[in-house]
Amino acid sequence: MSFSSVSDHDAYRAGLRPVNQWKAYGLKNYPGFIFIPDPFLPGCQRHWVKQCLKTYTQKPNVCNLDMHMSSSETTDLWGKSQHQLRNKSSSKRASKTLLEKLRWVTLGYHYNWNTKKYSANHYTPFPSDLAFLSEQVAKACGFPRFQAEAGILNYYHFDSSLGIHVDESELDYSQPLLSFCFGQSSIFLLGGLKRDEAPVAMFMHSGDMMIMSGFSRLLYHAVPRILPNLEGKPLPSCLELPLPADLPEDSVMEPCSQEDWQVCAKYLQASRVNMTVRQVLAEGQSFPTEARTGRDLDASSVGSYHEEHSEIKKHKSDSGS
Ligand code: OGA
Ligand code: MN
Repeated sequence: MSFSSVSDHDAYRAGLRPVNQWKAYGLKNYPGFIFIPDPFLPGCQRHWVKQCLKTYTQKPNVCNLDMHMSSSETTDLWGKSQHQLRNKSSSKRASKTLLEKLRWVTLGYHYNWNTKKYSANHYTPFPSDLAFLSEQVAKACGFPRFQAEAGILNYYHFDSSLGIHVDESELDYSQPLLSFCFGQSSIFLLGGLKRDEAPVAMFMHSGDMMIMSGFSRLLYHAVPRILPNLEGKPLPSCLELPLPADLPEDSVMEPCSQEDWQVCAKYLQASRVNMTVRQVLAEGQSFPTEARTGRDLDASSVGSYHEEHSEIKKHKSDSGS
């Protein structure tokens, strides 16, 4: 950790403890991999959860539902889901809200799941609060020039997983990949440079961060399992406290109303949210110019690494509806 590079105040603005209070773990044989167990200040994870569900789901950001629904149908997922979600009893089988059908959102340079590429002409402004958080974390880990340019948010339920993959679409591998976890826990598998190398397994709990840099930047990894938090409560205790009422004037976090948190809490009782943040281009680099191919424009074959495991789903032809 570069203890001195992030001021306590900048950490505070992002909802983080002073960096000298963070713990950071490396892994033998995985240089550049850093695991930081929950460095958030009490209550502050709530801001990021609410952003993932209420704010970052808004247009012009892109989500999996846009692939097979009209733009009016995917506008205001939060507004269209909040009442049903809040009143849902966990025992009854009810139809899924749009928020519960959400699998991923892309930010900044929007990752194209079909071509596996980012492109200059598919960019929307990266959220400034998440850019600030990411840049402080990168700085604390020794990457003071990191620029948050693309984000992939993953939304998981107890039956979801993320298949084995490498994040290699970015054009600059000298910058780290940052990952932030919220809600229920998961098992993370970190493999090798080749797909068939045996992985190490670790738990990821709410608030935990992971940095993949250097040698570890291009390692295979996967999330095979989502698990109820180990405390055995509906939500882990780090999500029990509300955001501080007296946020500093220059905080990037905003207050979260009780009503909004109720919806987030209900969602997170059976879900995990993960934010990954990437720098796509090296400083001063631009995208190589490329001729468009028909494949780029074909949304019908859009795929991703997201998988669902449920007996019911297996018999349905279209899991998206
Ligand atoms: C990814 C990723 C891991 C996670 O989005 O590339 O590997 O913990 N996410 O969800
Ligand atoms: Mn990944």
